[in-house]
Amino acid sequence: MARMWSGLKKTAGKKRLVIDIGTSAIRVCELAKTKSGLEISKYVQREYNSDPSLDEQARNQLRTTALTEALKEAKIRNRKTVLGVPGQSVFTRCRTLPPVAEFKVNQIVRYEIQQQIPFGLDQIAMDYQVLNKTEQGGYDVMMAAIKVDVVEKHLDTIKAAKASIDTVDVLPLAAYNWLLHQKQMGQQGDCVALIDIGASTTDIVIERGNQFRFTRPLNMGGNDITIALAEAFNLDFVSAEKIKRERAFAPTGDLQRDGKGGEIIGGVLQRLSTEIIRSFSYFRSLPGGGQVNRILLTGGCARMKNIVPYLSRQLGMDVQIAPVINNITVGAGAAAVKTAPEQACVILGMALRCWEPVTIGINLIPPRILETARRKEQALYWSLSVAALILIFASLVPSAAKENKRVKERIDELRAAVRAYDPELVQRIRVGAPVPQSELRAQLDVRKRQLQTLVGQVDTLEKAKRQRRFWLDEFAYVNEARPPLGQIWFSSMESCVIEEEQPQQHHQPPGMRPAAGDDDGGTLAMQRRGFPGLQYSGAGAVSTGQPVMGLGGRPGHVPEAQMNETAIPRANGIIVHGFAESDEVINEFVKGLRSSSRQMANTWFVSAEKVIFSEGSVRRVPWSILNDAPTEGNIGDRSTQSVGAGQDSLFTFTVELLLRYTAEKPSPATETEDGTV
Ligand SMILES: Nc1ncnc2c1ncn2[C@@H]1O[C@H](COP(=O)(O)OP(=O)(O)OP(=O)(O)O)[C@@H](O)[C@H]1O
Ligand SMILES: [Mg+2]
Repeated sequence: MARMWSGLKKTAGKKRLVIDIGTSAIRVCELAKTKSGLEISKYVQREYNSDPSLDEQARNQLRTTALTEALKEAKIRNRKTVLGVPGQSVFTRCRTLPPVAEFKVNQIVRYEIQQQIPFGLDQIAMDYQVLNKTEQGGYDVMMAAIKVDVVEKHLDTIKAAKASIDTVDVLPLAAYNWLLHQKQMGQQGDCVALIDIGASTTDIVIERGNQFRFTRPLNMGGNDITIALAEAFNLDFVSAEKIKRERAFAPTGDLQRDGKGGEIIGGVLQRLSTEIIRSFSYFRSLPGGGQVNRILLTGGCARMKNIVPYLSRQLGMDVQIAPVINNITVGAGAAAVKTAPEQACVILGMALRCWEPVTIGINLIPPRILETARRKEQALYWSLSVAALILIFASLVPSAAKENKRVKERIDELRAAVRAYDPELVQRIRVGAPVPQSELRAQLDVRKRQLQTLVGQVDTLEKAKRQRRFWLDEFAYVNEARPPLGQIWFSSMESCVIEEEQPQQHHQPPGMRPAAGDDDGGTLAMQRRGFPGLQYSGAGAVSTGQPVMGLGGRPGHVPEAQMNETAIPRANGIIVHGFAESDEVINEFVKGLRSSSRQMANTWFVSAEKVIFSEGSVRRVPWSILNDAPTEGNIGDRSTQSVGAGQDSLFTFTVELLLRYTAEKPSPATETEDGTV
């Protein structure tokens, strides 16, 4: 349901002081929520003299006293208040608005109210409620407005209660809400009129097809009967009121039985009936109107004897006293409500909206009061916030002090730790200043650099270690190349590096680095003998000429960068020295070297890329040269024979091999230029 005052606070779910200031009585009430539902927990009614001839001041005094007494009796403390204003002082209108954006409904309602009420917007309190959305997308709207002065007059009365207003309800609408809650209305196809006959006002509310349609105040009530009786029987108001309550009844139609009183009362009630009938006719003529088919009576006058049959006869329809408290529990503090429940219908409806959303939730609280309440609330929130902040700070101070102590302790610990390493640095540390640099820092950097150099050297050694190879396969290959009959002995086999002038990339077995001079088809330019690893940098390696560390060599001091870049040449050849019985045997051996190969553990083949043999290396030597050498076969038998005896001499020889490693079994090696044997 759309509401005009968007800032309106919902009262549902909160306890409120609920006051109905009627013409003849003041009522206070409280509903409570129990496990089984709502309960009327407090209800007090205080009647007072409602003689219209009393002046305003006297009437106010009576009301204030009654309110004070009622609150005392009900033991209700000051709190936010729901107040009701009589339908008589409220402008209400139901309208069907065209299909417009919902936010425009507010503007249209304002405009409509301004058209109907000749006061400025600052002088009125208004509200509206969308009752229904039409099939065309329009809105059935109920709008209400009241002059702020009227509300303020009612506020004067409750000043004594020091109550602050929260909701301004419209009394007949509150009664309607209550009967809906009590399920006495709200049936489809029903057109029911609620008629509340009070002391000075009679309110009509009509509901049709389960929708609020119409309300109209009639400016007459029980007081009119009292006054008529007083006048007819020459009584004062109070006496006439007493007689009315105790002995009067609505006319029965039996003139004798009704008597003069019946005639007087009948006169007033006749006027009332006529007004009701006129209102019903008017309602029938309205869009959404219709024929009222039953009446529910509330208000003090519903208690008048014979009123129900009388009105039923006069209005020609079903009339009944509204069952006001049939569907609700009544607590001990509210027993008084059972005496005259018809009079409680309005205030119960007002109390209901403190707990549940009601069907018609109009609130005519003046904007000024709303604004003041807002400011007060804001001030309260501010003061609460400030108080909360103070509390927070107050609670922070000890914990901050504690934290501070911990930080100090921690600083002391850290100082002690720093002092252990650099006592001088501790002297220079100042709180808030940048952290000073320790003198030890430079020393640490030097040590770090030295460490890095050492790590580089270790890496080089590691690399050399990884490149280290065993020569068993190569030597076995050479050994297997000997002719099958033997007659040839090796005195030494030496690994060497053979380098060539035009190096080209050569295939290497996996895990082997290409060595300088390890190539295909170039002319041999230089041979450097020695055990692999102990090398001097030269062509194809590092050109500084500095000795470098290698296996078997003494590590020297080498700059770190150079150390890392140094490549250790890997031996790629073998120099074989030996003895043979004849030059044919040597030839056989050389051929064997060229044509054979040996497969190594890694599946690659080792063979001779080049076999370099020079006749110049062949010399005759006597057998005796083998005296100190390990002997085999018949060597010993010939050791004593002399040189120069032709076949009885031995031949020395030297053969150099450039080794080659291939994945496939190789083809025989080529001959060197001078390598004919
Ligand atoms: N037992 C009774 N017999 C006849 N009339 C009664 C009886 N009790 C109360 N009344 C009448 O009911 C009227 C009061 O009803 P009610 O309390 O509903 O009115 P109110 O709320 O004080 O006034 P209003 O609503 O007009 O401001 C008075 O006129 C009173 O005389
Ligand atoms: Mg009333």
